[in-house]
Amino acid sequence: MADAPPGPAPQRFDGRVVLITGGGSGIGAVTAARFAAAGATVVVADLDGDRARATAADLPGALGIELDVSDESAVAAAIAGQPRYGSGDGGVDILVNNAAVCDAASFDEISRRAWDRDIAVSLTGSYLMSQAVLPSMTARGAGVIVNVASVNAVGFYGNEAYSAAKAGLLSLTRSLAVGYGKHGIRCNAVVPGTIATPIWQQRVDRDPAILERLKRWYPLGRVGTPQDVAAAIAFLAGDDASWITGVALPVDGGLLAGNGPMTDDIFGR
Ligand SMILES: NC(=O)c1ccc[n+]([C@@H]2O[C@H](COP(=O)([O-])OP(=O)(O)OC[C@H]3O[C@@H](n4cnc5c(N)ncnc54)[C@H](O)[C@@H]3O)[C@@H](O)[C@H]2O)c1
Repeated sequence: MADAPPGPAPQRFDGRVVLITGGGSGIGAVTAARFAAAGATVVVADLDGDRARATAADLPGALGIELDVSDESAVAAAIAGQPRYGSGDGGVDILVNNAAVCDAASFDEISRRAWDRDIAVSLTGSYLMSQAVLPSMTARGAGVIVNVASVNAVGFYGNEAYSAAKAGLLSLTRSLAVGYGKHGIRCNAVVPGTIATPIWQQRVDRDPAILERLKRWYPLGRVGTPQDVAAAIAFLAGDDASWITGVALPVDGGLLAGNGPMTDDIFGR
């Protein structure tokens, strides 16, 4: 029997500049590593500059920068200012809007300040970053934005401010996809379910079994890994997805497809 034909080659990103916000931790750091391994020049941008630089130091050709995505002048300086990135025209080819914070307070207790911060980082930060990179993408007639949303954008799983910000981010995803498609620019979102990252650390410290317990809600029987999300981001960012724009891709082990425990209750399984 003849050998099976080789599968498709993994997507390469040689010569592309990929900027990942919140790239110093969790999903962002693993995504940075994935793009770097695929040949991209990666810019790891994080509020925590030490973490950004430490993440970049492990990746060939990567640069770590301190950046608060909610700070308009800092965003302008990081994108339009020096240094220019990569060896091409210095512009960002692929932007991953991944930075977010999630205040733990309940709705009756969340302060105006905490509410504003969740919106400022996830939603306003993605607007500022996108607005900053779009002129050079438009001039080049090419570019990709991938927004990291959440299942909280679609259904309610706690954290009202975070959920509202992520729902807004899905709307922004569609707006940019439709508005900038004519310039050869694509914009998509990934919609992750529970992913074991440092964002969960406080909850895990309080309740060490929490991630284990959450598994039963996931049709695929486990919570996600940062690698699961990084793979979906890379797919949407690459040429394999060249006719895909404006979508919100669940990366959620089937959570949004339906409710397994409820189905089991209905049928007494
Ligand atoms: N972990 C999950 O269960 C989960 C689920 C759905 C969606 N997400 C989303 O995935 C993304 C990454 O989350 P994670 O789990 O890797 O979290 P994480 O806490 O490990 O990483 C978030 C990073 O964002 C950085 N950051 C915070 N505020 C910033 C700002 N103003 N400017 C720049 N950087 C800032 C932090 O310093 C941190 O390094 C977020 O958008 C999050 O909402 C996570």
